[in-house]
Amino acid sequence: AGALSYLAELPNGYRLLAMDGGKYSPDNTVKQEYSHETAGKFSNSVMDWAVEQTEKATQDGYTVIGMTHWNFVPHFTREINTFKDFCVVDCENVRDRLADAGMKYVFTGHIHCHDIASYVTDNGSIIYDVATSSLINFPNYYRVMTLDNSREGHITATDKTYSVDDVLPVTCNGKTYPQPIRYTTFGINFTGNGAKSLAFGFIDHYAEVYLPAIEAAGGLYNFLTTQMDLEGIFNDLLKGGIKIGSLNVFGTKNIMSFIKELCGQIDQAYLANPQKVYDMAEELLDSILNIQISDVPCTKFMDEYGFGNPNKGGTLEDAASSALLYFYGAAYDPADDVFIQDCYKQLETGEISAKLLDALIDKLLCGIVENELLSTLTLNLSSAFPIGTFGSLLVRGVDTFLRIMLLGKMSYMNVINVGFRVLHSLGIIEYKTVNDILYHYMDEYLTESQMQMVDGELQSILSSLCEDNTPGKLMDMNVTLDARTANDYTVEKSADNLRLPSNVSVTFGKDASTSRIISWFTKHSIEGTDIQITTEANYKQNGFTGSMPNGVTVSKKVETVNRQFPGIDLGVIGFLPYTFEVNRHTLTINGLKPGETYRYRIGDAKTGFWSDTATITTADNSDEFTFLHVSDCQCGLEKQYQNWAKVLDSAFTKYPNAAFLLNSGDHVDHGDNFNQWKWMFNANAPRLMSTVMMSAAGNHEAKGTNALVDNFVFADYPTQDTEEGVYYSFDYNNAHFIVLNSNNLNENNGLSDDQIEWLKKDASQSDKQWNIVMLHKAVYSNGSHYDDDDVIAIRKQLATLMPQLGIDVVLQGHDHVYLRTAALNKNRVARYETLTTNYGGLSYPNTMVNPNGTVYVIDACSGVKAYKTKSVSATDKLFPRAEAIVDADYPVYGAITVKGNQLFFNAYGVDMNSGAQTPIDSFAILKK
Ligand SMILES: [Fe+2]
Ligand SMILES: [Fe+2]
Repeated sequence: AGALSYLAELPNGYRLLAMDGGKYSPDNTVKQEYSHETAGKFSNSVMDWAVEQTEKATQDGYTVIGMTHWNFVPHFTREINTFKDFCVVDCENVRDRLADAGMKYVFTGHIHCHDIASYVTDNGSIIYDVATSSLINFPNYYRVMTLDNSREGHITATDKTYSVDDVLPVTCNGKTYPQPIRYTTFGINFTGNGAKSLAFGFIDHYAEVYLPAIEAAGGLYNFLTTQMDLEGIFNDLLKGGIKIGSLNVFGTKNIMSFIKELCGQIDQAYLANPQKVYDMAEELLDSILNIQISDVPCTKFMDEYGFGNPNKGGTLEDAASSALLYFYGAAYDPADDVFIQDCYKQLETGEISAKLLDALIDKLLCGIVENELLSTLTLNLSSAFPIGTFGSLLVRGVDTFLRIMLLGKMSYMNVINVGFRVLHSLGIIEYKTVNDILYHYMDEYLTESQMQMVDGELQSILSSLCEDNTPGKLMDMNVTLDARTANDYTVEKSADNLRLPSNVSVTFGKDASTSRIISWFTKHSIEGTDIQITTEANYKQNGFTGSMPNGVTVSKKVETVNRQFPGIDLGVIGFLPYTFEVNRHTLTINGLKPGETYRYRIGDAKTGFWSDTATITTADNSDEFTFLHVSDCQCGLEKQYQNWAKVLDSAFTKYPNAAFLLNSGDHVDHGDNFNQWKWMFNANAPRLMSTVMMSAAGNHEAKGTNALVDNFVFADYPTQDTEEGVYYSFDYNNAHFIVLNSNNLNENNGLSDDQIEWLKKDASQSDKQWNIVMLHKAVYSNGSHYDDDDVIAIRKQLATLMPQLGIDVVLQGHDHVYLRTAALNKNRVARYETLTTNYGGLSYPNTMVNPNGTVYVIDACSGVKAYKTKSVSATDKLFPRAEAIVDADYPVYGAITVKGNQLFFNAYGVDMNSGAQTPIDSFAILKK
């Protein structure tokens, strides 16, 4: 790799450094074979050589011009993650090193757009990435750049762009071409005109690759089984299969022979007829592209490029074609395009993705899956149960019954419909058709906020392609650039660009009255894990003086870790995972004074990249304090997390002395989307840096490198598998808190045996006045999960155990609805007296006196994703009706005050626009 790199001496003190990033050798292709790779990567040796040559030449007074195929600096905001193969792998590190070594200009290509982008490194040096389009592809531009290094301390570039038309006629090898091929749109390079052609180009491409491959493998079944371990997957899924006694009724072998038979049918019906498949794909794509997304007609490009319609509102296809022109066309400004501007606005609402979903259901589910696939393919039950097996006896009966019912027409659709009718009339299922189930779940989970998230993602992609402002307008044609060599450019610093501490989490250390653990992320190049800290009183007088407060010690750790996010995140699914390196900093502070307030900031002392200041207030070991509880702030857009920040602001304004925050989990919607973690922390940065947040693992953060312990550092927890969360406990003043991990389950779907053992031991060792448990999956709930297998199993475990262990309150999440039970014991309302108590100007008329039971609360959701409550008739069958059920379609938080032998709880609904609060429930407990 890198063999085609070279250094060329140019006149007037310039040197050209050509860097080879081709991934065409087996040592850096993933597949270990010679194949075409779109992405480019500099090997270590090319990188070291390039830096060395640049440094040496710069020292010797030469001006170094870089050249390579791949971009150093993204030319549109989502290039680096969504369309990542345009940028060279690890481009941040590459451009940092070369720019700091003295390279001010690098000429690149690959992306075909005509654009100049610039970047300033951590050290204040600038680099311009000059990407030039293609002469033989749209928009058929080339550029002439004049460099001038005669002015001390500056390298100036004057750029002029020309169209291929400007040089016509062209004479080449003795032949004159009056009109060389001049493409008018990007789409035409592939198949025809515009965005639709481009999309069809991709369908064609995949059809060309996969159809012959399936044929060559000898059919779909053989193809699938060579591509993946289907049998292994089903073995895992079925866990040995369904057994009656020792007889295996349905196992992997059954399902494999069933799939084989089904694949055979698909081979015959579809693969033998690729035109049919293609027509189906075309129809689907057509209906999606034809969705009208604006009332404003798309007319800007009608005359020149022939798309748009003055008589009707613009479609998705119009928007996509326009975006391609803005991106590649290099000569248009979207600011005056009323259609595009309206598209941005429409994509704020969530209505576009709702239309998209409708089209998908109509064409894909009803049209293709139901009316085509399920109606054409025949269910052959006996294929799953070869004669001679036990199941075959059973199946023969069912099979005969169905054949009689359906007059022999055993299509899946017919079988499913009969099945549903029978099961519905027997009262076994509440749905009459498959679509009933679909619409039920859509109604439950595809909330307005979810649709807004998808719209937000589409809006971000559209604006990313259309907008360009750096360093000049209109794809930077004909500009003059100036690169100062003094490296004195202003370095933009923010948590968002990871130069300043991002995702700052503060947890209690081993002792809430004397220690804290602060963790944060920065970009890979920022290595310092530093803190400035002093008492608040001293800070107000002297600021940070550089010395540590008496007795305070700090230990530091920094590690380089991988994080990722999907290049496109549609909420329900994400695509194109983008992985990158960040530094994870952990700072443990010990020796703080109880009941003291400190002011601190964290960052990198070497570069002077410091966070804003924040405060730490330690526990004072008294018997009175207040804390807040929230749950399920999970969102998908930055602006949705800003709403969450408003809820926290509102809560802390009402309870300015709240000692800490408990979070019952589902902090993010997609655990493996680092951006969502970043937004969650950073939207609340000033608040969360001054507040300890102790969290439970939600099911949405139960995987990969974005589990709970990858975002928070907890001082102390028993040895356990932390991949899906963590269980731990801590003390604060006169209360003991136990945080459970409801993702950590045993084979019966209850909390794992280890966890239950630890819980029993931990709770029985508590000598605190109050014992509070937090977990994600709500044990008592009137939300949609109330009868999930795991919830039922955990409820069975905890109903008796919680009161037995002296747990007063269980704080829960997961269901996004508000519910609060009476004190329960063994799944029944405990007996207790009530009386009226008062605290903080509020009256608690039904204060429970010495209840021999546990109160369960779900504080709905604190973000934008409120779910609907179930009817009480369903939950009444399983447990006593809750004392408070509130249909909260707004964010909620809970506030708990402990004062000696009394506990007061208040829940509030928050108006997201005004921040105004409404009390929705309260209770109190008195221990005499
Ligand atoms: Fe949730
Ligand atoms: Fe959840």
